[in-house]
Amino acid sequence: MGSNATADKSADKSADKSADKTSEVVDKDKSEKSQGDNEESHEKVDAHSLHGKAKVAELPPFTFERSSKLFARAKERIPGGVNSPVRSCKSVGREPIFMANADGPHMYDEDKNRYLDYVGSWGAMILGHCHPRVMEAIETAVRRGTSYGAPARAEVEMAELMCEIVPSLEMVRMVNSGTEACMSAIRLARAFTKRSLIVKFDGCYHGHADSFLVKAGSGLATLGISSSPGAPEEITKLTLSLPYNDVDALREVFAKKSDEIAAIIVEPIIGNAGLIRPTDEFVKCMVGLCKDSGALLIYDEVMTGFRVAFGGAQELHKVKPDLSCFGKVIGGGLPVGAYGGRKDVMEHIAPQGTVYQAGTLSGNPLAMAAGLAQLRFLKANKPYARLGEITELLANGFLEIAAKEDIAVPLQVAHVPGMVSFFFTDKPVTDFESALKCDTELFGKVWRGLVERGIYWPPSQFESAFVSTVHSKADVKETLAAFEASLREAIK
Ligand SMILES: Cc1ncc(COP(=O)(O)O)c(C=O)c1O
Repeated sequence: MGSNATADKSADKSADKSADKTSEVVDKDKSEKSQGDNEESHEKVDAHSLHGKAKVAELPPFTFERSSKLFARAKERIPGGVNSPVRSCKSVGREPIFMANADGPHMYDEDKNRYLDYVGSWGAMILGHCHPRVMEAIETAVRRGTSYGAPARAEVEMAELMCEIVPSLEMVRMVNSGTEACMSAIRLARAFTKRSLIVKFDGCYHGHADSFLVKAGSGLATLGISSSPGAPEEITKLTLSLPYNDVDALREVFAKKSDEIAAIIVEPIIGNAGLIRPTDEFVKCMVGLCKDSGALLIYDEVMTGFRVAFGGAQELHKVKPDLSCFGKVIGGGLPVGAYGGRKDVMEHIAPQGTVYQAGTLSGNPLAMAAGLAQLRFLKANKPYARLGEITELLANGFLEIAAKEDIAVPLQVAHVPGMVSFFFTDKPVTDFESALKCDTELFGKVWRGLVERGIYWPPSQFESAFVSTVHSKADVKETLAAFEASLREAIK
């Protein structure tokens, strides 16, 4: 955990030995699929194939007229013109781009520009867009009805599969989002321990429930707001937010309040302040303090689950948390979340127990079908070694470019399989405070350059980028050429 090399090695260990077979399957799937359902975008695909620096310079400029018009309309009827704040692209200094369709590693906007997508619906699309297995599963499920409000087979299969893949899971409850999963997990932890305080870490984001809007990452960090009006102080004062990777601060809080702390909730690898990895010592400290005090350890694996390794960050850390939260990958791009863990804890949830939590659309058949198809494909192909290689190639490429003599821009790059961030700073980024010190203005300039060159990177310094199993070496080359051109332009 302490270094990139360690994490990648652990992921490789967990991966199927037949990496070659994996790429074969992935590539076959890719070639079987058309490049999208919009013929006009296909023409653009060829025109924008970038495989070297020279071609970057030859590109005709992208136009964004339709996106601009849609944004003007959206602002009239949707607050800020978007349904989730980071999408606004505010912090990187431009208007949002409205997407029209997606396929494989690409997205196509309303103006028919093509992008290599490193947002991947914020981590959900680990197999890329419109993966044939996922699409087939959704198509089959949709013909059977979109929601029953009664139990169905796929929910049982999903719970069984998740418990099989993640050893700490003995029981699982499906919900509709990561927010709901984390919010429900801390309610359960409070009920189980009969304690009120929750410990979280600065820069971690666990969704937008009141309890978590304390020094949170993601959109709050992006927009420079550390908490939210409307989250009552009576609730937020029950959340103690500490610096990530700071074992002294953690020990001190437990020394003073151990019998009041219900749980530690943590992003086991932060994605929501940019990618930040935990130290071994920090992980051990959390595990030990929870064990000694009776507080529950909650791993929020909404981003990392089934991505950084098949068994998530807890597989890399060799940790069995009491509870874990999931979302994104388990829904194959449909709205979903889940929390699960120790049976003696989970049994307290209604109707087996008295801790109330419910949902009209929980375990929705379309979401279950898409999620099951995605997880089953991952199980059959175990693409994690290859995902790690592609991500590392990208990460090393960024570092090499920034270090070129005629560029010489200080850069830190963090990566784990399927997730990567670059920070413009000469100091290691180990917590939220150090992430906040990096050059966000330069990040914004480079981001705008990337977008104009067909690379859709997360529009915030404080978000990890996501690599999918269908990103190829050629895609990495294209991305690095665009990065170099954008960086050169930005520092001119
Ligand atoms: C680690 C983590 N937890 C929770 C959430 C909230 O998930 P959702 O946006 O599905 O509510 C997110 C969202 O990005 C996340 O990254």
